[in-house]
Amino acid sequence: VNVIETIDGFRKTLDAERLDGKTVGLVPTMGFLHEGHVALMRRAATECDVAAATIFVNPLQFAAGEDLSTYPRDIDGDTRAASDAGIDHLFVPDLSEMYPGDVHTTVSVAGESDGLEGASRPTHFAGVATVVAKLFNIAGPCRAYFGEKDWQQLQVVRRMVADLSFPIEVVGCPIVRADDGLALSSRNAYLSSAERAAAPVLHRALVDGLAAVERGVADREAADVMARTISAEPLAQLDYAEVVGDRLLVAARFGSTRLIDNLGVTR
Ligand code: PAF
Repeated sequence: VNVIETIDGFRKTLDAERLDGKTVGLVPTMGFLHEGHVALMRRAATECDVAAATIFVNPLQFAAGEDLSTYPRDIDGDTRAASDAGIDHLFVPDLSEMYPGDVHTTVSVAGESDGLEGASRPTHFAGVATVVAKLFNIAGPCRAYFGEKDWQQLQVVRRMVADLSFPIEVVGCPIVRADDGLALSSRNAYLSSAERAAAPVLHRALVDGLAAVERGVADREAADVMARTISAEPLAQLDYAEVVGDRLLVAARFGSTRLIDNLGVTR
């Protein structure tokens, strides 16, 4: 894998690939790669002539008191994983490359950013949209792969791309889960063994919610079913359990670790 640290280098590399007639796949990440990221990378490598990925822990999307300083990092392991997954070009800018000074320009996506994660983390999605806009501007026209675990993020990115006419095709990819149902997340690394054993309650809650929707109960009741399942787990502290359109979404804390999960419903 070709590791690139500068904006100029990454931009010129992908421009040259396109000039050569190649299609480009892009997988933006914050690193500490797991099988969920690897699935995105493999898909980009399979569906596009050239696969690129980015690793950047974006301070703009963390609020004060969140886990920016402790966010897990493993650049050597990530480089190997990206290479094994078929990534050709890996962009790993440092903080001063991405944000050389104060940031005066941000992107905020009204509507899609409201509620759910946006309610618990009011500045989060503007931080995500801003860095993703920057990465898209650096990478240029491509197919960009995002995991559905961050369902609301995917909706925010899709809306930004549509509203601002980015030359990007956004591809949403299914959640990758551990055998016990826990959605893979870099933040799972924070969990103690007792918390890790408790965390699959999120997926169980979604399955209970799905069964309730399929029984034909009202969305509010299905949300209550999910909330009750999570609240019955002593190590879980419920943040939200909601039904939004055709999606069941949950968030809870396990100790200081906040995890999210979601599941689609067909009505
Ligand atoms: O999903 C993530 O890992 C991040 O939010 C993203 C999209 C890479 C932006 O920093």
